[in-house]
Amino acid sequence: MMGHVYVFDHPLIQHKLTYIRDKRTGTKEFRELVEEVSALMAYEITRDMPLEEVTVETPVAPAKCKVLSGKKLGLVPILRAGLGMVDGILRLIPTAKVGHLGLYRDPETLEPVQYYSKMPSDIGERELIVIDPMLATGGSAAAALRILKEMGARNMKLMCLIAAPEGIERVHREHDDVDIYVAAVDEKLNEKSYIVPGLGDAGDRLFGTK
Ligand code: URA
Repeated sequence: MMGHVYVFDHPLIQHKLTYIRDKRTGTKEFRELVEEVSALMAYEITRDMPLEEVTVETPVAPAKCKVLSGKKLGLVPILRAGLGMVDGILRLIPTAKVGHLGLYRDPETLEPVQYYSKMPSDIGERELIVIDPMLATGGSAAAALRILKEMGARNMKLMCLIAAPEGIERVHREHDDVDIYVAAVDEKLNEKSYIVPGLGDAGDRLFGTK
């Protein structure tokens, strides 16, 4: 099996992503746009959710209708930039549980190390959407997926705003069971592992730090 990459080319997503990339976009607008794009991506990513039939009484007659068949979702933002996408997704899927995963890069080994995690107790039964807005080298996303598998996760999707080819390759080399959902695949990484052209540092732009 090989994981797939799905690029969401919906015009609204692409339009908003352009303003997210623009360096003139300030923190408030950046955050709002990331939330909006995340909601639109959630709409696309949930396209395959199973439905079941129920009957309701309309004022006129009984109607056979569909409701979501109770598949349990979990969102797992990788701290800190992943937080910026959570509220937009929760707007569409308000009952999803949210687990948090904090990773930092060890300055010597350059490997991602977990410093925080708090997950729903039943992650093994949930479909998890792991959220990492910038898939650059893929190091932290691949580590997050490995850590979550060790915790019992079995069914995961990776959701990013922008990916570099290097990040996609790394995630799929280590996790060929995980599909990746992105708004754009950019050209490359620069010498500081920033995505080119990308949008800069997603965490700094979301939270106004630098
Ligand atoms: N993380 C970011 O926030 N931006 C990049 O370009 C790469 C990693």
